[in-house]
Amino acid sequence: MRIGVLTSGGDCPGLNAVIRSVVHRAVADHGDTVVGIEDGFLGLIEGRGRPLGLEDVHGLLTRGGTVLGSARVARDRLLEGVARAGELRAALGIDALVAIGGEGTLTAAQLFGEAGMHVVAVPKTIDNDIDATDVTFGHDTAVHVATEAIDRLKSTAESHQRVMVVELMGRHTGWITLHAGMAGGAHGILIPERPFDVEEVCRMVEERFSRGKKFAIVAVAEGASPQPGTMRFEHGTTDVYGHQRFNGIGTRLAGEVAQWLGKESKPVILGHIQRGGTPTAADRVLATRFGWHAVEAVHKGAYGYMTALRGTDIRLVPIVEAVARLKTVPEDRWTEAEAML
Ligand code: F6P
Repeated sequence: MRIGVLTSGGDCPGLNAVIRSVVHRAVADHGDTVVGIEDGFLGLIEGRGRPLGLEDVHGLLTRGGTVLGSARVARDRLLEGVARAGELRAALGIDALVAIGGEGTLTAAQLFGEAGMHVVAVPKTIDNDIDATDVTFGHDTAVHVATEAIDRLKSTAESHQRVMVVELMGRHTGWITLHAGMAGGAHGILIPERPFDVEEVCRMVEERFSRGKKFAIVAVAEGASPQPGTMRFEHGTTDVYGHQRFNGIGTRLAGEVAQWLGKESKPVILGHIQRGGTPTAADRVLATRFGWHAVEAVHKGAYGYMTALRGTDIRLVPIVEAVARLKTVPEDRWTEAEAML
């Protein structure tokens, strides 16, 4: 078989590990040919692909980013591509496509699938917001990076008796902030699922200092919002790809805390540091397993399906199920974290 593979959407630690795994399983075990499609669906639409052999994936396990590149495609352009799905498949000479990506990629994969392309999807995102899989690779790495940042901020915050507001990624869901906040022992955890009251945040900080504590760390997700009627803050509008723009909730909140309490309060925006660099061991393992199972899915003809972690097993679930809803932080997970704040 000739199997195309592409990575699409924001990059994520572990993408290269999936590519490597797909090539090993397909080429070495099944005798397939793998075509690496450049820059995600843009490369598919433009017919840009190159053969990927075992030599090409040496050393990829530990490398961050994606050697195939990734690009966002405006919806109109994507739909034009979908309408030409058969032609695009023939141009690259592929029998099936493994599409690795987040929510937007899965939606695009579903559209190409409905248009006749044989697609198997592999979910990725540091945000861990894809329903239908217990976890996505990339999330563990992002949480490690964010936790280390919180650990480091604690020592400098304590030396200067400061409040540190660390803004973490997570547009609509607070998984990174919840997990890094718990692992790093943050004193405030603010997530999009639970609009916050700035007065409560200030009371928490004041109460800590009144108990003789010398610093406070507040972890806030980039998509967190204040409760209506409290601090006035609007997130930005969406960009041409339909993604929310953010206006710096961490910086704004640090300013509010400084103003209310007269305490030095500094924002730290961790940004893309959470997405770059080498994946953790857990992400390497999950990415490798997903790649292996994606090739098996292709050979079974399980088109329209996505690899998913369920407990400790990798299962195949319909892509439509995965894009039906975002996986947000449920109340009980928040309650567990809140007990430690
Ligand atoms: O979806 C993953 C993510 O890392 C979000 O948490 C973040 O808002 C977004 O991507 C930023 O992506 P980019 O800067 O590449 O548009």
